[in-house]
Amino acid sequence: MILSQLVSDYFNKECAQEAHSTRLLTLLMEYWAAERDHEVKSELLKQMVFKYSVAERKLAELNLIKNKFLGLAAHDFRNPLVLIRGLSEILRDDLGKTLHRHQKEYLDTIYLASSTMLTLVNDFLDVSAIENQSFRLQIRHSSLQAVLRERLKIYRMLAAKKSIRLTYKLSRLPDFPFDRDRIAQVVDNLLGNAIKFSPPEKNIHVSMNRRDGKAVVSVRDEGPGIPTEKIQMLFKEYQTFGARTTGEERSTGLGLAIVKRIIDEHSGDISVSSVVGSGSIFTFSIPMECGYDDGKKAQDPACGG
Ligand SMILES: Nc1ncnc2c1ncn2[C@@H]1O[C@H](COP(=O)(O)OP(=O)(O)OP(=O)(O)O)[C@@H](O)[C@H]1O
Ligand SMILES: [Mg+2]
Repeated sequence: MILSQLVSDYFNKECAQEAHSTRLLTLLMEYWAAERDHEVKSELLKQMVFKYSVAERKLAELNLIKNKFLGLAAHDFRNPLVLIRGLSEILRDDLGKTLHRHQKEYLDTIYLASSTMLTLVNDFLDVSAIENQSFRLQIRHSSLQAVLRERLKIYRMLAAKKSIRLTYKLSRLPDFPFDRDRIAQVVDNLLGNAIKFSPPEKNIHVSMNRRDGKAVVSVRDEGPGIPTEKIQMLFKEYQTFGARTTGEERSTGLGLAIVKRIIDEHSGDISVSSVVGSGSIFTFSIPMECGYDDGKKAQDPACGG
């Protein structure tokens, strides 16, 4: 009785051990297969990373060539365009009263077309300078209020042509060092965008005030707004998101990339808040003291550099 019990216990244990060993073996094999699979995948990943880095380098080289070509072409187009625009303006002023209606229209068209092309060429030159790291500011003590007033005067007329009301509220600020022409360019693009993407009968409001030692400018519109997922792409080149301008304005998608660079060079900030269907607010701020980093400050005579 005792012997048969012992024999049966022995066999039960043996069976249990065998089952255990089989399970262990299966697990080991599964582990090896997974490890092999992992090795194959890591090798594939390594190859893909290598191919990607080669392609990325090639793309960077091509981009450099493209920018160089764009810069050269834009540079060569610039002078004739300045000439055509300048001469058509002189002709318009001098002969305006003696010309027939059609002739005057032709001259206006030449002036407008050459102005548009000149802006485009200047944008290409800026992008090329930005990408070649040769973009420089000309810092002088100036009045931001005066810059805004000057630009608002022009853009108010453009807005009125589309029955858009442009209002503003500008606080008094002392003069401070910034690049007058470049900040005018920023304001032009923000106002230009607000006007060209807004439907008629809407309002645009511009404000300027001082906050934490910075001049803060906001442009608020009641246009179509920008979807949240598009906002982080806004400041990259050639991003137009297929947005329709509400007049006949051009849309190349370069303006905000240049704006961002100008504001960055001033050690400032730019942000957007937008609700689709209700409108957008673009806000930029630039330090009123010489808040640039040491490198920029050193080249900046207005900051004692
Ligand atoms: N106020 C705005 N309301 C709605 N969409 C806007 C507004 N401002 C910019 N966008 C969107 O962002 C895109 C990029 O603007 P950006 O100023 O860079 O280029 P653009 O105005 O299309 O062309 P460019 O400025 O080169 O003439 C626009 O094409 C538009 O889709
Ligand atoms: Mg624009």
